[in-house]
Amino acid sequence: MNIILIGFMGAGKSAVGQLLARDLGYNYLDTDTLIEQTEKRSVSAIFAAEGEAHFRDLESEVLKTLQDYDGFVLSTGGGMVLRAENISLLKSLGKVILLWADPATLYERVKNETHRPLLKVDDPLAEIKKRLTDREPNYRAAADETINTAGQEPAEIVEEIKQWLKSK
Ligand code: S3P
Repeated sequence: MNIILIGFMGAGKSAVGQLLARDLGYNYLDTDTLIEQTEKRSVSAIFAAEGEAHFRDLESEVLKTLQDYDGFVLSTGGGMVLRAENISLLKSLGKVILLWADPATLYERVKNETHRPLLKVDDPLAEIKKRLTDREPNYRAAADETINTAGQEPAEIVEEIKQWLKSK
């Protein structure tokens, strides 16, 4: 079995994913990292050189390379659900868990980080609100389960995920 974490930037996918993988004895994978390793450059460099559409192509490609593997927790980039094709690919890979949080919480978690090209704007909170609203239907369509992460530590979220997995 595989577990796929989706959600907006700052939802906690990496922190929760690493902890969950360790707890379950699964491998931990992250689509941004896999893309950076294959491309030998950062996500920001890819956005700057070729733009968002090309990055989205790379996201689809990386999901296809994972179809034959088993026993991993996968964190995905926040925009992974933007393509319907990717939603199908995610669902075929494993159980999809949406980590959710309100814009103010997301903003608090990302405001001191500088590696996200889409948040390098004058008003990152407004950008988060807009993109989250646009993406919400895609996140909901992809998710088998949703966990509200606001006010929760990664370890608590991991427990919630494990409880849900037990009920399956
Ligand atoms: C993006 C989220 C980022 C990364 C890229 C685009 C997005 O991943 O894939 O900067 O469109 O929301 P994280 O969600 O891990 O920050």
